[in-house]
Amino acid sequence: MSAYLVEAVGLLLRWLHVVAAIAWIGESFYFVALDRGLTPPKVGGGGVSGESWSVHGGGFYHKQKYLVAPAVMPEELHWSKWKSYTTWISGFCLFAMLYLASPGLYLIDPAVAAWTPAQAVMLAIAFLPGSWLVYDLLCRLVGFRDALLGALVGVYVVALTYAATQCFSGRAAFLIVGASMATIMSANVFFVIIPGQKRMVAALARGEAPDPLPGRRGKQRSVHNTYFTLPVVFAMLSIHYATAYAHPQSWLVLVLFMAAGAVIRQFFVVWHSRERAWWLLAVAAAVLLAVFGMMAPREPAAAKAPAVPVPATPAVPAPAATPAVATPEAVQAILGKHCIQCHSAKPSMIASAPKGLQFDQPDDLRKHAELIRRQVVALKVMPPGNFTGMTDQERSVVEAWLASRP
Ligand code: HEC
Repeated sequence: MSAYLVEAVGLLLRWLHVVAAIAWIGESFYFVALDRGLTPPKVGGGGVSGESWSVHGGGFYHKQKYLVAPAVMPEELHWSKWKSYTTWISGFCLFAMLYLASPGLYLIDPAVAAWTPAQAVMLAIAFLPGSWLVYDLLCRLVGFRDALLGALVGVYVVALTYAATQCFSGRAAFLIVGASMATIMSANVFFVIIPGQKRMVAALARGEAPDPLPGRRGKQRSVHNTYFTLPVVFAMLSIHYATAYAHPQSWLVLVLFMAAGAVIRQFFVVWHSRERAWWLLAVAAAVLLAVFGMMAPREPAAAKAPAVPVPATPAVPAPAATPAVATPEAVQAILGKHCIQCHSAKPSMIASAPKGLQFDQPDDLRKHAELIRRQVVALKVMPPGNFTGMTDQERSVVEAWLASRP
């Protein structure tokens, strides 16, 4: 029952998280497009600095931007903030429910760093506010030297990615990088952009000229947020692909994914000001092509000379230290020890078999042989966090059996 509850709450939170993120990022995209698409007003005056027309939903929209304020402040102002906060809060709950609740499964990879569960949880939590504090300090120190700041933020994200991959399992590292960047984005909204706008509106309400500094600062942070959107989405979705996060240079894989995301975002940003920078898309495509080339599976040398003898080829003598042979029964027993806690019709550790993959029957093994090879032999990401202590010897039994199949 409790496993079922975790699954049900997880699903609800995931819906909320994705829907809120779509709404937040969608609105952010919309305002960037609006801002970049403005043209000088046909009829000047009244403080209007730019306007744009669009047709949508059976009507025409005439949007006008006031740089300072309209002569009469509107009674109702729409503020964009709750979509961002909802995304962050739902994301953090999901993160806590899965990763922080089961650090041994999700956060810790003893081959990367052998934290105790408490250490791993504290470190994972610290990453979120910590990454914001350093970023915020950078912004305050560098001020409005935008190009320099942009470059430093880029270097900072690379460092953050590298650090995360040196602390956590590959999957957790990708998630924590995405969550840290999303924390920076939401904190920008919460601590800088919204308070700046509040001060501006309050000054106008008092009939004073607003201090331009908070507005400028908010604009700068909002530009950073724009370039973080696609990298965060790419990082978050990549956690479902072990090919990416289990790569030996997973930090580089993620950095390149995110770089491509930022370049694609730039393509659309300038698109909205009527610039057709196709070369940006070409650059992003080249980067992605390079990463996918880098991740493409190489035939492992061991596959040609299995460490464990296969019954069909008895001529190969068994090394003294490897008593097991790669019979289907031996493989079934190994998976029974290390996999069916989760991958079963009746799993004991979770409510239902992940991705519907069950390994109870010999037939299941044959059916999913290639998937099992990727996860257990090539990438070594299952069982998660190797929490059952699957040995290399057991992995080579599975490998030998897979290699021996007709
Ligand atoms: C503690 C639970 C657990 C155990 C034990 C476990 N897995 Fe998994 N497995 C998962 C989860 C969760 C996913 C889904 C990961 C995702 O969403 O990307 C998964 C996904 C997979 C996939 C699909 C990967 C893909 O992206 O297509 C395969 C194949 C797999 N596991 C094989 C195994 C094998 C083989 C074992 C035993 C050696 C094993 N698993 C042990 C939880 C487990």
